[in-house]
Amino acid sequence: MKIAISGKGGVGKTTIAALLAQSWVAAGFKVLAIDADPVSSLASALGFPNPDKIVPLSRMNELVEERTGAKPGSFGQMFNLNPHVDDLPDKIAVEHNGIKLIVMGGVKTGGGGCACPESTLIKALVRHIILDRNERIIMDMEAGVEHLGRSTTDAVDCLTTVVEPGMRSIQAARRIKDLANQIGIKRVCAIGNKVASPQDATFITENIDNIKVIGIIPYSNSLKETSNTQEKDERVNKEIDKINLALIPDHQSAKTQR
Ligand SMILES: Nc1ncnc2c1ncn2[C@@H]1O[C@H](COP(=O)(O)OP(=O)(O)O)[C@@H](O)[C@H]1O
Ligand SMILES: [Mg+2]
Repeated sequence: MKIAISGKGGVGKTTIAALLAQSWVAAGFKVLAIDADPVSSLASALGFPNPDKIVPLSRMNELVEERTGAKPGSFGQMFNLNPHVDDLPDKIAVEHNGIKLIVMGGVKTGGGGCACPESTLIKALVRHIILDRNERIIMDMEAGVEHLGRSTTDAVDCLTTVVEPGMRSIQAARRIKDLANQIGIKRVCAIGNKVASPQDATFITENIDNIKVIGIIPYSNSLKETSNTQEKDERVNKEIDKINLALIPDHQSAKTQR
């Protein structure tokens, strides 16, 4: 099961990625979480101690050079476009409370969309994880489909866009759906978040067009402003269970399945 989460900044992508990862571990699954947002915050949402000390892949200079043949940040230089990455998940993942996490980090672009060594390495690693790893994968992304390429589209079970009651996040979700469709991802769904009233819920379902809404997470003081999702809110948990069943119909009975 491989789920990628996208959406406008601040809508709750990281919070929901952490909640899903925690629910999967609680249900007995092996979980590998990927923080693919250049502004990384999944480690702190998952309660990792000293999240700021985790070095993202894009800043592992020696490793980037070893695998690609070029230093991070170098442009216009020859480098290996097909770096060896199979050993990296076990080598660079950090673990806390049963969840493995890989932080990809930000990449300076050279302008004109040209690829740099670290973005090539990140893309190769995402591809490998999505195609070849058999844990449950949750990928926290920025507001786009960056790092996902055509080769991974069949293996991504669902691109989930998070929306809040507000037109800008809905427009972002529509744009993300278009981008996803362009690279061949067919299954796109939406999760409503920070919903404080029945009117909020209706606003989302009425404006989201033909994106299927698989859950509506209430506005919750236990999630607000905290970077840690350990504190529980029963209403949120219930909704996460519902989302799991929509994403993965056999979620409850699949404890032996990895
Ligand atoms: N359901 C919710 N109720 C209240 N606050 C929330 C909820 N979901 C997320 N938040 C808060 O909103 C802010 C942005 O959430 P975050 O997950 O970091 O968004 P994103 O990853 O999309 O940028 C955080 O301060 C978080 O604690
Ligand atoms: Mg985030």
